[in-house]
Amino acid sequence: MRLVVGVSGASGAPYARRLLDFLASEGPKHGISVDLVFSETGRQVWKQEIGSEPSYPFPVWKPKDFSAPFSSGSALGYEGMVVVPCSAGCLSRIAHGLSTDLIGRAADVMLKERRKLVLVFRETPLSLPHARELVQAVEAGAFVMPATPSFYSNPKDIGELVDTVVARILDRLGIPNDLMRRWEGLAPRSRAEAPED
Ligand SMILES: Cc1cc2nc3c(=O)[nH]c(=O)nc-3n(C[C@H](O)[C@H](O)[C@H](O)COP(=O)(O)O)c2cc1C
Repeated sequence: MRLVVGVSGASGAPYARRLLDFLASEGPKHGISVDLVFSETGRQVWKQEIGSEPSYPFPVWKPKDFSAPFSSGSALGYEGMVVVPCSAGCLSRIAHGLSTDLIGRAADVMLKERRKLVLVFRETPLSLPHARELVQAVEAGAFVMPATPSFYSNPKDIGELVDTVVARILDRLGIPNDLMRRWEGLAPRSRAEAPED
């Protein structure tokens, strides 16, 4: 499978880095290759939040380079795309089918070809346009996975917290991973603790 990863200019570069690190090391084992696109602001926010320039062994496409194969539905093998993090502006472009940059065009192709599109949306609070555009993206077939970490696996540090989001992105793409401790339910309560029937 060929996977497109778009990094737009919302806060959350550590999610993108963890996903890309995972795909760089584990992707080949699962037959997954990656094409990477940063929006201009995506790269800027990465530098702010992580410091160093992103460096990956994947083809990295310029924000408006529509010569990328995945900007056409006829290119074979591109079964999925993740936008992580997905800014409100990027969501808006995707929800309205605006192919004005490569992330928007690639997402548009995913939707029209009925392929998997995962949007790791990050903004707070939500305006009415954000809420409406989230609905519109879901109605068009995208999976919206807000960049909200979970705590029930008792993450010990920021890395483990980040993994609670990245594990769920990989799950959605059907990529095996053990990045977080899975919820296996609670032990049955003893009779004494159980509420009266
Ligand atoms: C440090 C920083 C953090 C930002 N965080 C967010 C954010 O969390 N969510 C968001 O929607 N926009 C955020 N923005 C604003 C976007 O970067 C801005 O709207 C930009 O136009 C998005 O462009 P893009 O969608 O092409 O990446 C942030 C900008 C900066 C500089």
